Order: sequence, then structure tokens, then C-alpha cells
Amino acid sequence: MRMTKKLFIKTYGCQMNVYDSGRMADVLAPLGYGPSEDPRDADMVILNTCHIREKAAEKVFSELGRLKPLKDAARRRGRRMILAVAGCVAQAEGEEILRRAPHVDIVLGPQTYHRLPELVATATRRSGGALDTDFPVESKFDHLPGASAPHGVSSFLTIQEGCDKFCTFCVVPYTRGAEFSRPAAEVLDEARRQIAAGAREITLLGQNVNAYHGTAPDGGEWGLGRLIRALAQLPGIARIRYTTSHPRDVDDELVDAHRDIAALMPLLHLPVQSGSDRILAAMNRRHTAQDYLRTLERLRRALPEIAFSSDFIVGYPGESERDFEATLALVREVGYAQSFSFKYSPRPGTPAASEPEQVPDDVKSERLARLQELLEAQQRAFNECQVGRTLEVLLERPGRHPGQLVGRSPYLQPVHLRAPAHLAGRVVPVRIVGAEPNSLAGEGLETEERIPA
Ligand code: 5AD
Ligand code: SF4
Repeated sequence: MRMTKKLFIKTYGCQMNVYDSGRMADVLAPLGYGPSEDPRDADMVILNTCHIREKAAEKVFSELGRLKPLKDAARRRGRRMILAVAGCVAQAEGEEILRRAPHVDIVLGPQTYHRLPELVATATRRSGGALDTDFPVESKFDHLPGASAPHGVSSFLTIQEGCDKFCTFCVVPYTRGAEFSRPAAEVLDEARRQIAAGAREITLLGQNVNAYHGTAPDGGEWGLGRLIRALAQLPGIARIRYTTSHPRDVDDELVDAHRDIAALMPLLHLPVQSGSDRILAAMNRRHTAQDYLRTLERLRRALPEIAFSSDFIVGYPGESERDFEATLALVREVGYAQSFSFKYSPRPGTPAASEPEQVPDDVKSERLARLQELLEAQQRAFNECQVGRTLEVLLERPGRHPGQLVGRSPYLQPVHLRAPAHLAGRVVPVRIVGAEPNSLAGEGLETEERIPA
């Protein structure tokens, strides 16, 4: 395929969006669009947006403002630049984007990527913008060609989309729609293609990934644990991860998968959001702090070396100092390997946004600082306790210095070490000799000949 046109995609937000951007590039490749690093000479610019946190829509509108002169300059030079907005902000704002930024050609929601080529054709024919944010009844996955672009040593594979949980702070059920699981056979096919293209590690993605309940190859239904078992059988796969999970959907099959499957990595991102039962109930999380701790305990019994990461929200409407201290207490009890924490930010249309008892911003900032201090100390301690241990590291890419490679430990910590470039893609034992807040330093243990293929 000759790539005659240049495609620039700017991706915001989560790994799901990184994956979706890859698929958009895939569907556009047959039209001659190849990747470009620079929007200035692009024939098409896609902003793949994320709505989950603060001021997402405003950031997109200011980026669109910056792109307008580039589009005008292209036109003056006799070139057409197609401008598209995709992802959750497109879904949420729809017509508003075409109204406020009339230079946008295409607005498409997360479920409609397979229609991109058609929308590009329409946009090329006429000057008005094309809007497609309907949730189609058929699976979007039915229409996408097999992913063709190389995904690197570590690749993402979406197996589930949308969410039926309706946590009161979250836009996902509205922007991504109802929970949908891809059939297992399709997931396995895509995993085989990714492995053939060089992937050694596959991260299964979904907004509520452990709610996965896909059609099984024999017509029954598989949960996530069963799917992971099947994936672990594929020749060439070294590591499996999944994200993001909901504590309510950790079933016995998934716990058993952690116990039995060596390729399933021992770091689980299991967001708790708050340690206060009152706030958890208000958030409609449908579990208590004790339920969550019991779930972690089941996982620890199954796999003693498992480590956890979580998301936290501080300053949810009505959160008192006591509620916040319950969060700190839960964090102390768990001891997290890494975490993500946010100030509550009202998302229009969600139930929490219209709660009267909004927490003042200075209180949110102060709580966030205290929580992050604790979480950072735990992450540092977790990194430091790896020093002296030998960890299996998946070597991924060249490091900052010549002769260096960067890989990932089983716990997702970046590990820097001296190793020849051709070892990228291998899992090798590495002795950890130093710890930084966000990474580890290691020494390769084996000579090349002794490293198994
Ligand atoms: N305000 C703050 N944080 C939020 N998150 C989701 N919605 C909001 C919001 N309205 C956080 C949650 C979720 C993560 C992806 O983003 O912690 O787990
Ligand atoms: Fe949002 Fe996750 Fe809650 Fe679903 S489970 S509503 S995606 S926070």
C-alpha cells in the first residue's frame, strides 16, 4: 500500500484511546493515509479525546483553535486538511463542536470508527461537517480490518467497552454506552495477530474489563479468568495484564487465574476511589471498604507476591475530614505499589455534579496533597524493596544512554540496564541494583547464549 497522505493523530487520556487511535490509523491506511509526526503538513488531523477528567472539552476547543491557522495555511497552499474529533468528548459534545469550531470536518463517537473512511469521503465531497455519534446496534468490531500496524513488544487489546455500573461521578456509562464484550474467538485472533507482529506482552483493555462476559468459541460464555487461560496457551505470549477492573467483578475464576497462570502479571489495578463506606455508597460503588479489603485478601492468598494499584478521588461531594481519613487508613492498610489520585471534578450530566454539598477546591487540594504524600512514600518503599532481588524484565526499547535498554518489571516498573539492542523483546532475569521513585536500575544476569529464546 502506498501511503500518499499524511495522518496526524493526537491522543488524549487512557490506554483505551491509545488503542483506538491505532485502530483509526488501521482503517485509514487502505485510503493511503500513513502516520505523520507533525500536524503542519498533515492531510488529516484527528484529535482522539478523553472526557474523564477536568476541563477536557475546553482543552479540545483550544487545540481546535490552534489548528485553525494550520488548516487555513494548508488551504492557501492548495491543500485540504481534514480535521476530525473522535472519542468521548466528541460523543458528549456532538453538535456543539461543529457549532463552536465550524472548521471541524468530522465528529465521531467511540463506537463509530469503522465508518471513518466513509466519513472522510463525505467530508472531502462537501464543506459542512459530518456528525456520527450514534451508538450503532451492530458491533463496531465487526467492521474493522485486522489490525495491521506493528504494536511493539507490549500491545493493547480492547476486549470490552462501556460500563453498566453508573458510579455517580463518572461519564463513561454515558459516553461509552452499555457494557459490551467482544467474542472470545475474535479476541484470540487479534492476540495471535499481535504476537505475529512482535508482541510479547498483551494488556487487555476495557473500562470495566473484569465484567467481561464474551461469547465462547463453543457458543457458551467466558468470563475474564477463562479468557486469560486461553490467551496464556498462545505460543509466543510471555505476559498478560488487564485494566481497569471493578472490585465487584473479581470472581473466583479470576482469582484462580492469578494463582495458576504464570504469564498473568502480579500487579493488579483495582480502583477503590474512597475508603469511607458513606462515600462509597454515595458514589454507587456497591461495595464497602471491608468488601474491597476481603477481595485483596483472596487475591493475596492465591498469589502471595501480588501487588496492587488503585485510583482515588478526594473531595467527592459531602466528603468530610473523617471520610477522608478513612481513605488514608485504607491506603495504610493495603500498601500500594503505585496509584493515581484525583480531585473530584463535576462532570455535567452525572448525578454527583448536581449534589449540593460540593467540597471547596482548597480543601480538595489539601487532601490530595496529603494522600499523594502517602501514596508516593508507599511507591518509593515498594521500589526500594526490589533492590537486591532478581526480577524478570521484558526488554522493550533503547534507553536514554547508548548501550542501554529499558524494560518493565512484572510490577510495571521501568528498569534501566546495559544490554545489547537486539535483546529487545526478550524476558530476562535482571538483578535490581538501584531504585528511583519511578524506576529501577538493573544488571543483566545472564550472557546472551544462556537467555532462552
Ligand atoms: N472526578 C475525578 N476523578 C474522576 N475519575 C473518573 N471520573 C472522575 C471525576 N468526575 C477518576 C476515577 C477513575 C479514573 C479513571 O478517573 O478515579 O477510576
Ligand atoms: Fe466509571 Fe469505572 Fe464506575 Fe464504570 S465502573 S461507572 S467506568 S468508574
